[in-house]
Amino acid sequence: CGIIGYTGSRLVSDILLGGLARLEYRGYDSAGVALEVGTGTDCALDVVREVGKVASLAKKLEQHDASSTCGIGHTRWATHGRPTVENAHPHVSCDGRIAIVHNGIIENFAELREELSGRGHTFRSETDTEVFAHLVEEGYAATHDLMAAVRDACAHVVGAYGLAAVCADEPDVIAVARKDSPIVVGMGQDGAYLASDIVALIDATRDVVVLEDGQFAKLTPKGIEYTDAEGAVIAPAVTHVDWDVDMAEKGGYPDFMLKEICEQPRVVRDTLVGRLAPTGELDIDELGLSFEELNLIDRVYVIACGTSYHAGLIAKNLIEGWARIPCEVEAASEFRYRNPIITPTTLVVAVSQSGETADTLAAIRDARIKGGKVFGITNVVGSPVARESDGVIYTKANKEIAVASTKSFIGQIVSLSLLSLLLAQAKGKLKTGQVKMLFHELGDTAAQIQHILDTQGPAIHEAALACKDAASALFVGRGMGTAISYEGALKLKEVSYLHAEAYAAGEMKHGPIALIDPGFPVIAVATKSPTYDKVVSNLKECEARGATIIALATEGDEDIAKIAGHIISIPPVRDCFSAITASVPLQLLAREVALMRGCNVDQPRNLAKSVTVE
Ligand code: G6P
Repeated sequence: CGIIGYTGSRLVSDILLGGLARLEYRGYDSAGVALEVGTGTDCALDVVREVGKVASLAKKLEQHDASSTCGIGHTRWATHGRPTVENAHPHVSCDGRIAIVHNGIIENFAELREELSGRGHTFRSETDTEVFAHLVEEGYAATHDLMAAVRDACAHVVGAYGLAAVCADEPDVIAVARKDSPIVVGMGQDGAYLASDIVALIDATRDVVVLEDGQFAKLTPKGIEYTDAEGAVIAPAVTHVDWDVDMAEKGGYPDFMLKEICEQPRVVRDTLVGRLAPTGELDIDELGLSFEELNLIDRVYVIACGTSYHAGLIAKNLIEGWARIPCEVEAASEFRYRNPIITPTTLVVAVSQSGETADTLAAIRDARIKGGKVFGITNVVGSPVARESDGVIYTKANKEIAVASTKSFIGQIVSLSLLSLLLAQAKGKLKTGQVKMLFHELGDTAAQIQHILDTQGPAIHEAALACKDAASALFVGRGMGTAISYEGALKLKEVSYLHAEAYAAGEMKHGPIALIDPGFPVIAVATKSPTYDKVVSNLKECEARGATIIALATEGDEDIAKIAGHIISIPPVRDCFSAITASVPLQLLAREVALMRGCNVDQPRNLAKSVTVE
């Protein structure tokens, strides 16, 4: 979900709508604003909410008083309660004089709701957030101080919140609080701004304060006052953001997904730059763990969700192959409810683009309690995953806006490759010369991706035509190719809604081959690898049953044309780096199929970019 707020001398509606449009990728089943209208004792709140996109809210707002200069807004992705107007934020107190927007989840909301109902509060929504509005209402009745009331409400809440509140009895003031859900505030030339994401603020200011857990901010047109949970004034650090506005926009591409796919050569280069010392040693300044500590590691778990989990499947091959350390990959949502074997020499690698996925964070906390070392791979500097890990490698993907992850995935694989090399070096399994050579080959994948982007468009388009009307598709490969297939299938289903499954090609004969009938699309990772011949023979079995075979093959492979109806060519690359190149045409294929099927590739239905609830 996304939060935005402003108090100052400008008209607030346009600021809120502009900010919400920027934040829409975080969640978009409904949106709403609360505007302060009238002045002094005549001040009242005008709360306007609408199901659907921000554009629908904008239309509704045309009928309302536009003179307001203080307000808050929200885009919602439903967690508690269906996407309805009643469940959309802002939520208001019984007297309608306090309004709240909130990201996160209130774990004890059922008890609080019961208590508040018992004290006469009437609830109008199914959301957990509404309890905040009623708690603040009670606090305000006692103190007549919005900040104090918000602090008091937070003290009663168990859970995560990024929150902003306005009160008609304190015109021009916005109270802001944060715990486990990001909030950024900053002063612009004409007032004070807040948002759940820096992207929504960069038009207004480059100097922002990223609130820490337990910090509060009071925004007024003249300035921002920061306090801790006791109300004592504090002075948090100001961060200067050098993102350009264009970064948050499409940069000439028709959609963010394509823009981000095309950024991948840069991601590879940026993630590697400065990370190999002239001596041939890897040099990762934010690492946080010494070579001695890494040398002691005797077991690795990679934990992650979604696409990040697939990056983990690829890393397993590298960690075991290079560093010879047993490695398991597990969905964070499973890991946290098991009783995994963790000792002080276990390394838990948490992979998370956003750095705030609830399941991944919970798994990190659990691993730490059990005494393991935790290493984060994340795209967001200062994110909870970064803060709660012993060491971290930042992927340099920059902000990713399309919901389906592409460039972050490539950044994760490159970062995990670095970590694997580092472990191998620390364990003495690879010599400096070998590390240097592999590092340079890893860097070469940037040019190889570019080559694929430049040359494979027509072949991918033809392959997409062969898939678009199918009811289902199968992705197969072996070894690295199996991991690549999992991500290929996920990408296709999330953006095109075409059912897709991934399978280890050798397992086809034990079940999935029953699915094959004439025209059934089988997308095969058939690049040159130690198992190439085996993959080819599995494909022959599919071909014999009429499947339409789309093969990802190494440039110059002429034999594959005998069985594949469509060939997408990949430059020759060492098998360990094949995921970086082979994943790119699968991203493009998913996008093409989705567009042919009339889907919105940047905002697939039912999905959110960052899942901060369990
Ligand atoms: C959501 C996104 C996916 C992402 C997953 C994990 O489901 O839609 O694209 O892979 O979360 O997110 P993380 O930020 O932890 O990598």
